[in-house]
Amino acid sequence: MTARLVVLVSGNGTNLQALLDASLDPGYGAEVVAVGADRGGTPAIERARAADIAAFELPVSRYPNRDAWDREFTDRVATYEPDLIVSAGFLKLAGTAFLSRFGGSYVNTHPALLPAFPGMHAPRDALDYGVKITGATLFVVDEGIDTGPIVAQVAVPVENDDTQFTLHERIKAAERVMVVEWVGRMARNGFTIEGRRVTVR
Ligand code: GRF
Repeated sequence: MTARLVVLVSGNGTNLQALLDASLDPGYGAEVVAVGADRGGTPAIERARAADIAAFELPVSRYPNRDAWDREFTDRVATYEPDLIVSAGFLKLAGTAFLSRFGGSYVNTHPALLPAFPGMHAPRDALDYGVKITGATLFVVDEGIDTGPIVAQVAVPVENDDTQFTLHERIKAAERVMVVEWVGRMARNGFTIEGRRVTVR
């Protein structure tokens, strides 16, 4: 059975593109059935449309408050009956409604080796700290900020002349490969979460 993926985006969507490309192979075991954004006009949504994938944009500003948006966003994602939801550059934290419906099947990718450098500026923070190795982490989202159980990580070297941009681009190249590999494994083989330990079978 091919697992149904919903991918959540806010920006460029290169991770989304990598998943779209991977799912062209029927052996991948997962297909992107919908892409959702928290804002209008993102290149990521254009990528979804170019691939003929259902796409929706629900800006928070259209709703009276964050909870109302969260409920609507949750309902919209649910209509696609996802087996796994992938946050790939999605800039909103999951709300209570979303997590109570999809907790345990919602993963996020972060451009640092968690628990180091959580938050919005991970490549810059890694550079400022002076670490020599950073990377990317795929994790199961919980109520915290980048705190959930870790599925996979990939290490990336920091070079002497890096800027936050060059470092982030190097991370993203490795991150895309990691996301495709591990989302595929989760979809094909299933996984368990016991405490902080994720085991992909
Ligand atoms: C990725 O590095 C992701 O970890 C971070 O934002 C970037 C998204 O890139 N949260 P893209 O939109 O998939 O190109």
